[in-house]
Amino acid sequence: MRSNGRQRRSVARPAKTKQPAVRRSAPSNRPWQLLSTSHRHTDRLGQAIGRALRGGETIALYGPLGAGKTALVRGIAQGLGASPTAISSPTFVVIHEYNQGRLPLAHVDLYRIRSPRELESTGLTEYFSGQTVTVIEWADKGLAALPQDRIEIMLNHRAARSRTIQFRATGPKSDEVISLARRQYGKTERAPQASPRRALKREATTRS
Ligand SMILES: Nc1ncnc2c1ncn2[C@@H]1O[C@H](COP(=O)(O)OP(=O)(O)OP(=O)(O)O)[C@@H](O)[C@H]1O
Ligand SMILES: [Mg+2]
Repeated sequence: MRSNGRQRRSVARPAKTKQPAVRRSAPSNRPWQLLSTSHRHTDRLGQAIGRALRGGETIALYGPLGAGKTALVRGIAQGLGASPTAISSPTFVVIHEYNQGRLPLAHVDLYRIRSPRELESTGLTEYFSGQTVTVIEWADKGLAALPQDRIEIMLNHRAARSRTIQFRATGPKSDEVISLARRQYGKTERAPQASPRRALKREATTRS
């Protein structure tokens, strides 16, 4: 029996050395950053996030004018099963609510908010307690009011049609959603695209 034990140990050793490499490649809180090379690319990313949402999440969007925040919200709406074409920039109304998807969606734009009092008058915090998914453009203008556990997404111009997009979770619930979205997005991006040659050409022209 002892000789069997030795055999077992010698078989087990290579498996032990391989395990850490597998774990290192997939920790859930690894920062997620990617380059979107078109608005459709951003849209697919938004859809993956929308599909991963469970209800009650807050998504804080940061980035300059035209960075693609509203484009991402359209994808999120679609991932929730709502109509993406209904989504417009709520610059004057501040908050738009959509109820056609599997979860209620509140699309918020704080661009014109100038003071804490104006922020309070929007009623934003009322959205944070139920099942509503609250997506906030120009979230930096409402930082004091945001829930502690939130998904933060930073978008930035890289070239005419490319944007860097960075994700950060500030709590466990958000971390779970980002991990799930990341897996789902990875699957869709590995699947063959309708026109791979066009996609490659597009990438080559925008990454220079
Ligand atoms: N990779 C990309 N991702 C997203 N949008 C892109 C991309 N490339 C080009 N665009 C274009 O950039 C514009 C982004 O506009 P969008 O309204 O989403 O920006 P925004 O960040 O919401 O701006 P604002 O702060 O004014 O609300 C759109 O015209 C879109 O077609
Ligand atoms: Mg916008």
